[in-house]
Amino acid sequence: MGGIQKPETLHMVNYEYRVGSSDDALLAEKFFTKVNGETEYLLFSPDEVMPAKAWASSLEYALQHKTGVTYFCLQGEDIVGAGIAFRGFPRRQHHVMGIALMVAKDHHRQGIGLGLLRKLEDWAASHSIVRIELTVHAENLRAIQIYKRFGFTKEGVKRNSLRIDNRLIDEVYMAKCIDTVTH
Ligand SMILES: CC(C)(COP(=O)(O)OP(=O)(O)OC[C@H]1O[C@@H](n2cnc3c(N)ncnc32)[C@H](O)[C@@H]1OP(=O)(O)O)[C@@H](O)C(=O)NCCC(=O)NCCS
Repeated sequence: MGGIQKPETLHMVNYEYRVGSSDDALLAEKFFTKVNGETEYLLFSPDEVMPAKAWASSLEYALQHKTGVTYFCLQGEDIVGAGIAFRGFPRRQHHVMGIALMVAKDHHRQGIGLGLLRKLEDWAASHSIVRIELTVHAENLRAIQIYKRFGFTKEGVKRNSLRIDNRLIDEVYMAKCIDTVTH
């Protein structure tokens, strides 16, 4: 039969997505430590990753108070990708949601990044979010391309906002408006 096969089918790998809760805390610490050690494109160094106890309260607080959401992509018992979202705290920014996205290196190019973006956007749309925003390392062309493909546009540059191995690096502001505000 014609048509495009889902990446999961092509690679004979089953991925499952779920909303993170305190039950995922240990797996979360393991995953974030691994993924932050694989790339310079994420903000934290592996030794700066929150311990499981802090993940447990952070994930549970977000669930209960709807201050954001974390989606995990799992292969079997292992987390292989995560999409994290935080909505603005002041009422005047309650319609804005910041996101971060990361996939374990071994699982790149399987459609997980886009899958997580879809989950985050669906959550945003059902929680009165109008604007989704992020910052990305200016040299992370692959991520910038994926965000563009998903409808994000560049809004500006945070000059010298990262220092990595004594090199100053810009970050790019990107955003996607998923609804129109009536003025
Ligand atoms: C950026 C990142 C999240 C993308 O995740 P990903 O799961 O690899 O992304 P996807 O698979 O959804 O899409 C990526 C590309 O693979 C392609 N692709 C998807 N499934 C594929 C498949 N089965 N075979 C071949 N290519 C495939 C997509 O079309 C897309 O194409 P492109 O490279 O030409 O843009 C990931 O590279 C990552 O975690 N990087 C390190 C951390 C990071 O940079 N995070 C962003 C911080 S702002």
